[in-house]
Amino acid sequence: MGASKNGDNYPWRVTPYIVICWVLAACGGLMFGYDIGISGGVTGMDDFLKEFFPKVYERKQHAQENNYCKYDNQYLQLFTSSLYLSALVSSFLASKVCTVKGRKPSILISSLFFLVGSALSALSQRLWMVIIGRVLMGVGVGFGNEAVPLFLSEIAPVQYRGAINILFQLLVTVGILVANLVNFATLNIHPIGWRISLGLAIIPAILLLIGSIIITETPTSLIERDRYDEGREVLRKIRGIENVEAELQQIKEACAEAKLVKHPYKELRKKQSVPPLVIGVLMQVFQQMTGINAVMFYAPILFQTVGFKNDGSLLSAVIIGLVNVFSTLVSVFGVDRIGRRVLLLQACLQMFISQTAIGIILIVKLTETNTLPKGAAILVVLLTCLFVMSFAWSWGPLGWLIPSETFPIETRTAGFAFAVSSNMFFTFLIAQAFLSMLCHMRAYIFIFFSGWIVVMAFFVVFLLPETKGVPIDAVADRVWKKHPVWKKFMDVDDQKHENGA
Ligand code: BGC
Repeated sequence: MGASKNGDNYPWRVTPYIVICWVLAACGGLMFGYDIGISGGVTGMDDFLKEFFPKVYERKQHAQENNYCKYDNQYLQLFTSSLYLSALVSSFLASKVCTVKGRKPSILISSLFFLVGSALSALSQRLWMVIIGRVLMGVGVGFGNEAVPLFLSEIAPVQYRGAINILFQLLVTVGILVANLVNFATLNIHPIGWRISLGLAIIPAILLLIGSIIITETPTSLIERDRYDEGREVLRKIRGIENVEAELQQIKEACAEAKLVKHPYKELRKKQSVPPLVIGVLMQVFQQMTGINAVMFYAPILFQTVGFKNDGSLLSAVIIGLVNVFSTLVSVFGVDRIGRRVLLLQACLQMFISQTAIGIILIVKLTETNTLPKGAAILVVLLTCLFVMSFAWSWGPLGWLIPSETFPIETRTAGFAFAVSSNMFFTFLIAQAFLSMLCHMRAYIFIFFSGWIVVMAFFVVFLLPETKGVPIDAVADRVWKKHPVWKKFMDVDDQKHENGA
């Protein structure tokens, strides 16, 4: 069962071991997602606010509270965002560890930091302890988000690379959903509900820890470090067949070529690195400028803003979490058929309409002190579902997939680190600034995000080439050199690229 022969001459067979490797590694996504989903609910919980943010709690209780400003507090936002700041820095460190020590130890490091960080934040007695816990978790996320997508891409059989890479994003969405459910369940456990929510983050961390012991190192990483025999053994094991010489040879050649480049970061400054760098970084920046994390982090708060009570708003967050998971499946099955550009453009349209409509409803109906009429509040939740749905089959997974397939092997880990850290930086910005922006810009914040979506649509139309079905190592020849804008960057004296694959 499950034996298959595939194009590109590299045969393989599904084995239980390889499936276990995919799933265990993708638990890195679960960890990341759990954190995204848990923070918003926790920052809306009264017991948590009373303990660490009494001023915010008082403002929230005030009879004449201002809808848009009740949670605006830099420290409260720092609770959510501090994690991304440390993830940003650690993703560069992770790229080094990935290259020198391998993907497997990087995943192990990721789980350990996350484990210690989540235990510390759950047991915290002081605000600084919570923040340090989050910083440690951030190191875990930085290592995980660098190593896991690379790991998955490298152990995936060529023709399923897209779908297997998206497994990471799928588990991110599952993590967010589980976190929303946990918050829903702990909301009424006083006074320690928030501690349970934060503490349960150790479960995905433990899964990843176990995973990092069981999974294999990738053949590419072994061969990159001259461990050829081990590389061959691992390749046999993950492909489920004896004769892996053809694929082994291809990996050896790619690694030998990559070794000619001694300083990947210097290589990234060269003219021919501009196209992948711009695409890799902008995909991640734009992913965040859709405003997705305004919804993911702050959905419960957002729904309280429009008038839901605490549990109503958490329930809406759960519904959104479900929409997020199921819509990601569309991408798993569609990305290699429909293509990247179509998915991204369709989503721009759907996201633009839903964000703008949310903005208009709130501008017209929500003043500083009223609550939305029930019908309008439900419409806002429905529009948010439409928004999340389109994000989930497009900019969500493709924000990770495209940067991972855009760089040539010699700059792949370094280039990917730039993409990951751009994601983390902009996630940090949104996490840190969103509640203040909501307070100052009020409902116009949604119009602000729609504006970005227009820019993104132009970016896709004019700058983003289609990479569907193009083998990774042929991207320079088949994509960049043919693109009306990017080909100008490719006609340089770089021998390796001129010679082609
Ligand atoms: C993004 C996260 C986002 C999540 C939502 C991921 O791809 O990087 O920032 O919260 O998708 O599902």
